Amino acid sequence: MTSSVVGCRIAVAVCGGIAAYKVASLVSQLVRLDAQVDVLMTEEAKRFVSALTFGALTHRAVHEDPWQLDNQGEIAHIALARSIDLLVVAPATAHTLARLAHGLADDVVTLIALATPAPVLLAPAMDAGMYGHPAVTENVTTLQQRGYHVVGPRSGRLASGLTGLGRLAEPDEIVAAVEALLHWRRDLAGVRIAVTAGGTQEPIDPVRFIGNRSSGKMGYAIAQAAVERGANVTLVSAPTSLPAPPRVTQVAIQTALELREALHGLLDQVDVIIQAAAVADYRVADPETTKIKRSGEALVLELVENPDIIAGIGALPQHPLLVGFAAETGAHLDEARAKLRRKGLDLIVFNDVSKQGSGFGSDMNEVTLVPARGEPEVLPLLPKLDVAHRLLDRVRDMLQASARSVL
Ligand code: PMT
Repeated sequence: MTSSVVGCRIAVAVCGGIAAYKVASLVSQLVRLDAQVDVLMTEEAKRFVSALTFGALTHRAVHEDPWQLDNQGEIAHIALARSIDLLVVAPATAHTLARLAHGLADDVVTLIALATPAPVLLAPAMDAGMYGHPAVTENVTTLQQRGYHVVGPRSGRLASGLTGLGRLAEPDEIVAAVEALLHWRRDLAGVRIAVTAGGTQEPIDPVRFIGNRSSGKMGYAIAQAAVERGANVTLVSAPTSLPAPPRVTQVAIQTALELREALHGLLDQVDVIIQAAAVADYRVADPETTKIKRSGEALVLELVENPDIIAGIGALPQHPLLVGFAAETGAHLDEARAKLRRKGLDLIVFNDVSKQGSGFGSDMNEVTLVPARGEPEVLPLLPKLDVAHRLLDRVRDMLQASARSVL
């Protein structure tokens, strides 16, 4: 099978750690797989390996100077940032991780990371004591939440002579991660997708609301995956604690009625709607305008039904491709199928939210993709980003097969 790397433009950013010498092997493997590889080096990286090594391997000039212009007179690393399919940072040192997490832009590596719309793969390597430090852990978590991908580090003998977690992932493993990321390269280019995420909040009074357990992770993962595949993504989000994935247009909503208004405003601007938000079925009929005080009496709230937003869109004579989620507790697939038909959806993602380690709040989800036509696809327990990609594979196939033909 042909590698997904063939013909891709990959930038490899080399930072100052002893593992920099292994990156020569990584770059060589990528070149042999027929990728066009551009190497960027920090000043510290050049203490370990020379630019000549990478220039000789890639047959291309190595980027070392942020002030360099290319042949067209453009700032070289910015032009590069716009043209690449993937940026790999290896070794990603503690110092570079901190600078990336803080958005600094003081060398070619941090500059290209800020400027590129391409996915970024970090391959951390450092002493085990450093990798275990909470500051480094927090920086890695922050970057992952912003959509960066991470491969390694691995446990083993370190340059210090100690054994622990901090070895750069082997070049083969990094190449495998690169291939996985490039697998979907731009297969949704130009497709306009609205994704909804999080749990709506229905006010009781100015300080209280009726909410649910949705963290937004599933919807944000779909938005991130869609952007990585080249889609134009609008993320309609209820309040969450998640940072917006890079390069999505975010629309903030709080209530189900606001969500409905936002989606109706997007109807003729999108090709696909993926409704992963957990929408409250009821709202307080008449929320108080001032904080409700204790009265010593029972408090009765009158709830009225919210509109079924996705069903309302599904009933329109013309609408974008519609994907819904079915959050069930121990229910059978037939109930998801019934929901799919009742709401006029093209596909429903069935998840049993009563399962431990899956569904609400978790980084993982176990779902079955149930299309209106064709067989359901049962997926194993997967990270939400992988669930998102598997879902988008089906969306891509449905767009290709349908009269909508935006691909
Ligand atoms: O956010 P996370 O913590 O990552 O959790 C993810 C999730 C469990 C919230 C997500 O995977 C999920 O299942 N989202 C849908 C939750 C839900 O509202 O399911 P439902 O079965 O009640 O509704 C079915 C579909 O109709 C959903 O697409 C829902 O968004 C939509 N709906 C529901 C009610 C309503 N009034 N309007 C709607 O459009």
